[in-house]
Amino acid sequence: MNTSKMKVIMVASEIEPFAKTGGLADVTSALAKYLKELGVQVISVMPLYSSIDRTKYKIKKVFDLSCAHMGTCEEFYSVYTTKEPYGVDTYFIEFDKYFNRDGIYNDHIGEFIDNPFRFALLSRATLQIAKDLKFKPDIIHVNDWQTSLIPYYLKTDNDPFFAKTKSVLTIHNIGYQGSFSSDAVGYAGIKDHDFHAGTFESFGGINFLKGGISYADKITTVSPTYAHEILGPIGSNGLHGKLDDRKGDLVGIINGIDTDIWNPTKDKLISKNFDIKTYKVGKKALKKQLQLMFDLEVNPNIPLLSFIGRFAEQKGLGLLAGAVEHAVNTMEAQFIILGSGDEDAQWYFGGLPARYSGKIGAFIGYNEEKAHLIEAGSDFFLMPSLYEPCGLNQMYSQAYGTLPIVRATGGLEDTVDQYDEVTGTGTGFKFYDISAQALYNTIGWAISTYFDRPKHIDKMIKAAMSKDFSWEKPIEEYLELYKSIFK
Ligand code: ADP
Ligand code: GLC
Repeated sequence: MNTSKMKVIMVASEIEPFAKTGGLADVTSALAKYLKELGVQVISVMPLYSSIDRTKYKIKKVFDLSCAHMGTCEEFYSVYTTKEPYGVDTYFIEFDKYFNRDGIYNDHIGEFIDNPFRFALLSRATLQIAKDLKFKPDIIHVNDWQTSLIPYYLKTDNDPFFAKTKSVLTIHNIGYQGSFSSDAVGYAGIKDHDFHAGTFESFGGINFLKGGISYADKITTVSPTYAHEILGPIGSNGLHGKLDDRKGDLVGIINGIDTDIWNPTKDKLISKNFDIKTYKVGKKALKKQLQLMFDLEVNPNIPLLSFIGRFAEQKGLGLLAGAVEHAVNTMEAQFIILGSGDEDAQWYFGGLPARYSGKIGAFIGYNEEKAHLIEAGSDFFLMPSLYEPCGLNQMYSQAYGTLPIVRATGGLEDTVDQYDEVTGTGTGFKFYDISAQALYNTIGWAISTYFDRPKHIDKMIKAAMSKDFSWEKPIEEYLELYKSIFK
């Protein structure tokens, strides 16, 4: 199939810059943007959450009172669109009952109980938007459980409009499967004879992702190592049997990073840009800025180690807590933590600066500017994830010459090259055991390298900054995968 003739719909519950809770948004946005750059005709679809700034992104109404035929009723919604900010046409579903509230998936009380209904509507309405636009897609690229009903609709609706349409499901995180009681089965339009253990049914309830895996034409996940890990019972969170059935259609494609946004030579969110030749001067100035911002002792010679991420169990917060407190008492080191999520973690990490004044800084919340400055100005980046499908921060950090210290799992294994003490090669420090002690030891290894083998650190920084983390290769792999479906 000719690339310029190919039509793709990218659909997700979050797309940068409109709504984001994690890397899913970065990746869905980048996929659409770079597919378009290759000449593919691509549109994106997502909900119009009330948090989205309609003025800033020039979002305009296109359809009033569109109708989605849900299994048990009809729902009427409006459709909005914009070409901002990358020229990709993004379509938004305005449906106040589901999307006019604070939060994307949850509020301070917990997960929204109508989530299965909300995302069933997103899935159904996406198909209706395609029809209303007369945009006949070759591929609908669905992401995670929230859009996992679409492959089922395509296979069982027998709608002539979609007769040639195929689906690709990308699993960004199998820890979130969309498991609920069976209440939403009727509304979602899953027919009784299709609701069984071979498809959506799981312990009497509905598992959206399981259904998506059953019906998608191809399944991808976001790194080759994670593709392997999810074939096992622990890595798959119980879906290994289902995935094993589809093993021949499963492939791991590593994420790229958006090199227009995450690029030390032109990053607009940092006060000093730098490249591989000027990194020493650039990073020194930014480190000082960080030390001042986070009330740390201003001293260029103390190694600064940072963490950015969602406060979720996946991120290895227990390991981080244990290792950081131990390290701060026994090593010459400073730490910065930026994150939000789990309330206990917020209390704990938010309280560390008061207990270790001048040595630990923390910001509880989501802050893009601070994230860029931390990636750029730190010496080391901590990612002790229990599992990590791909992970973006370890790639951002390498691009900025901030050496990652990671647990060797999923995409962290695939994107960080282990330091070799003899030759000085590598781009980071990896450990394997799920224990605070293993992280502590690896922090010690990195810090001793910093003090004792500065030439190695210099060599590693240059190697890290020279790595190609762009979307160039991954996007070609996606395109090849799309094309392979039609061969
Ligand atoms: P995940 O999707 O599991 O959260 P990723 O590493 O793929 O992990 O992506 C996380 C993304 O969210 C990165 O772009 C990271 O910089 C960003 N991020 C996470 N927490 C914060 C925060 N508190 N402030 C700013 N950016 C954050
Ligand atoms: C998920 C994963 C993360 C991945 C991101 C984008 O949220 O936790 O590892 O980088 O999706 O694919």
